[in-house]
Amino acid sequence: MTSSNLSSNAPIRDTSLMIFGASGDLTARKLMPAVYTLWAEGHLPDDVPIFGVARREKTDESFREEMRAAIAKFGRVGAPTDEQWTKFAKRLFYVTTELDHPEGFEAVRSHVCRIEDEVRGGANGRENNRVVYLATDPRLFLLSTQSLSQGGFVPHRDAPNWIRVVFEKPFGHDLNSSQELSENLSRLLTEDQIYRIDHYLGKETVQNILLFRFGNAIFEPLLNRHHVDHVQITMSETQGIESGRGGYYDQSGALRDVLQNHVLQLMCLVAMEPPAVFQANQIRDEKLKVLQSLRPGDLKDVSKWTVAGQYVGGKVNNEPVNGYRQEDRVAPDSRRETFVAMEVLVDNWRWAGVPFYLRTGKRMPKRMTEIVIQFKLPPLHPFSTVECVGDTCGLVGTRPNSLVFRIQPEESITVSCSVKRPGHAYHLEPQKLEYKYPSGLAEAYERLLLDVVRGDSTLFTRSDELEAAWRFVQPVLDHWEGEEFQPDFYQVGTWGPSTGNQLLARNGRAWVNPEEKKKS
Ligand code: BG6
Repeated sequence: MTSSNLSSNAPIRDTSLMIFGASGDLTARKLMPAVYTLWAEGHLPDDVPIFGVARREKTDESFREEMRAAIAKFGRVGAPTDEQWTKFAKRLFYVTTELDHPEGFEAVRSHVCRIEDEVRGGANGRENNRVVYLATDPRLFLLSTQSLSQGGFVPHRDAPNWIRVVFEKPFGHDLNSSQELSENLSRLLTEDQIYRIDHYLGKETVQNILLFRFGNAIFEPLLNRHHVDHVQITMSETQGIESGRGGYYDQSGALRDVLQNHVLQLMCLVAMEPPAVFQANQIRDEKLKVLQSLRPGDLKDVSKWTVAGQYVGGKVNNEPVNGYRQEDRVAPDSRRETFVAMEVLVDNWRWAGVPFYLRTGKRMPKRMTEIVIQFKLPPLHPFSTVECVGDTCGLVGTRPNSLVFRIQPEESITVSCSVKRPGHAYHLEPQKLEYKYPSGLAEAYERLLLDVVRGDSTLFTRSDELEAAWRFVQPVLDHWEGEEFQPDFYQVGTWGPSTGNQLLARNGRAWVNPEEKKKS
């Protein structure tokens, strides 16, 4: 690697932010608190104009009040003081418009330009750079972009100012619709104007996977088929379907909602080769190669290597909890999966034959995202291993070494190894070398928004990556649309259906769940 652009500090003057879909949940919970923190910490220009754009009627004043409450509730740096707020609120504006009416957008642009000039203290003949965040219903992605284009917001290639448009997921519903959307957008925007966000890549510990792998000499030589037995990636959630999301989720399911994007992106970071240059396109080229090397199992019998589960109601901590089919806006006979597990191989020189086990699910016992790289056992094991649970100790089988990236909730990196158990016998006991991240890390959306403003697309998904990810999951989606398909049911508060465990057990492996780890 020859250079790094990950901390680039490109000039960000004369830039405004526009959030489309500004009356929605994402704006209140994530985007505006992130924008405020960036501004308060001095990462954005002091005079940055920020526009909330949406259909619902609101005044600047009412929007400001709502955003102040949202920042106080969800922000990382706490509620703004009156003084801070007075200053910040002067940069905050609301524009009521139909996003899907491109004809009205010239007027929107004149309005926005006028305010930008006011905020900057007068027109200087230059048009602002703009970050436009589409936090809208995905059905509005294309129309909103058409509106931007027709309204004159998309500068000519040679113009001195720029536009960067951020697309939230889902980017397409399947391979075809995603390709169609990419194709239509490519008529309106160039690839470097498109930022497809995957908020997992904004998490500090996710970025650390790359830096840890390629910043240390001692682990990388081990990360290959000669030393690694298998890799597990788990993203489990305790929550079910949040209110208002049932309609979306019942069309989507765990494979589209989480595995196709967040989990596959994590897998890419674990499996990719070091790029020759540490820059956006070279990093994305390496991730793309992983996605293109994914080898699904038998496509005629998808159930041999994938498991789809759906939670059924029961009690969690003695409280009754609804099953998926009882959730708001979910069909009472829905077959949609809320859990997915699969065994995947990566057909390349480094990883040939090493299974990657991926799993994600709702209503599981713990909110946790973790990557476990489990190494092979030593070729001979002349020593016995003793393990204790509380005061009770006993002999156990040899424990393999592992390298664990805990992404959330408590971010850490752990190396598990065996050491001599103090005493007169030659016994081993499992121990951990652990680095725990400090609390109060920057929110993913802060990092990603700042990257867009700075023009660093490293942590955003390129269209070919997206297409490769859809291409991989499409046969599974097709199979699950079939008439005979039924998900395997699992009780709320459990680690998914038993078939999820069998996926590993048939090869003598097991998921590493947090309760089990406590014993070591
Ligand atoms: C989103 C999914 O992308 O990620 C949600 O749409 C999921 O269903 C969420 O709950 C999880 O994100 P995090 O950062 O809370 O793990």
